[in-house]
Amino acid sequence: MTDIAIRPDALYDRVRHAVPRVEWDASFADDAEAIVQLKRERNAVILAHNYQTPEIFHGVADVVGDSLALAREAQAVDADVIVLAGVHFMAETAKLLNPGKTVLIPDPEAGCSLAESITAADVRALKAAHPGVPVVTYVNTSAAVKAESDVCCTSGNAVKVIESLGVERVIMIPDEYLAQNIAAQTGVEVITWPGHCEVHERFTPADIRGIRDANPGVVVLAHPECPPEVVAEADLAGSTAQMQAYVEQRAPRRLALITECSMSDNLAALHPQVEMIRPCAMCPHMKRSTLAKIRHSLETMTTEVTIEPAVADRARASVDAMLALS
Ligand code: 13P
Ligand code: SF4
Repeated sequence: MTDIAIRPDALYDRVRHAVPRVEWDASFADDAEAIVQLKRERNAVILAHNYQTPEIFHGVADVVGDSLALAREAQAVDADVIVLAGVHFMAETAKLLNPGKTVLIPDPEAGCSLAESITAADVRALKAAHPGVPVVTYVNTSAAVKAESDVCCTSGNAVKVIESLGVERVIMIPDEYLAQNIAAQTGVEVITWPGHCEVHERFTPADIRGIRDANPGVVVLAHPECPPEVVAEADLAGSTAQMQAYVEQRAPRRLALITECSMSDNLAALHPQVEMIRPCAMCPHMKRSTLAKIRHSLETMTTEVTIEPAVADRARASVDAMLALS
């Protein structure tokens, strides 16, 4: 856990590469200082997804990462309180994996178009239509949907999870494009569900061709929630952590990330030597987190995430099955 003295300059040092001083002082410093203090008082940690804005990601988060890393870290947290700066399914996953902790989400309305695309009843109907076929469920789902599943996956481990099952067919829900992209990599037949990420479905192959034409030599990394024809135009598809690992290991000169806006902002701040081309698609759900809401969340200890025990036990089994594999 990061320990920052409550001095404006010490705190600003965390974000100086990402947020101009004038903007920090005018808009963020008060809330950030209060959050640092509240984290101590409440014995809290902040887990932030890679799509959180730079003042959250660099300024107050204790742990940052993709969905898989946040799940792993949530399991390991020994503080009393976890604040999940991200979307609701991520907070639910943290609660599933560390049920003894208080898990707070700064804005309970922070949803996800994928999580909202499918219900537990839909999964039961799919299983009835395809008896015996294992259900692999993306973590971008509610606990109730996870509870109907055999194993979860993230975009970072989907290939490994599918291959570990050793079967020819799986039901892979709810992201149709992720399922198609993973099917292309594994050769496993997938029964899909018509759920889409409202952010990544907006990218087109023409977008990528336009980026390449305007930026010779650019490396293009796409998130596998993009349609297959978009992934086909990219150099590589991977989770947000896999994008970061690519930059750290391969140090591309020019880079375009076909994903949510803050990912480019956060990586650009960490790797100023990379010329970042920024095709931008913003997730309105991720953007519901703000420093002011995180502060309020810690002040009032709201909104606490709870999961019905009967659902939680079954949902936890599918997340545990995933973590055991990766
Ligand atoms: P990652 O697991 O790659 O961070 O993706 C999460 C997400 O919501 C992508 O839209
Ligand atoms: Fe959901 Fe897409 Fe937003 Fe990720 S970017 S939280 S998948 S809507």
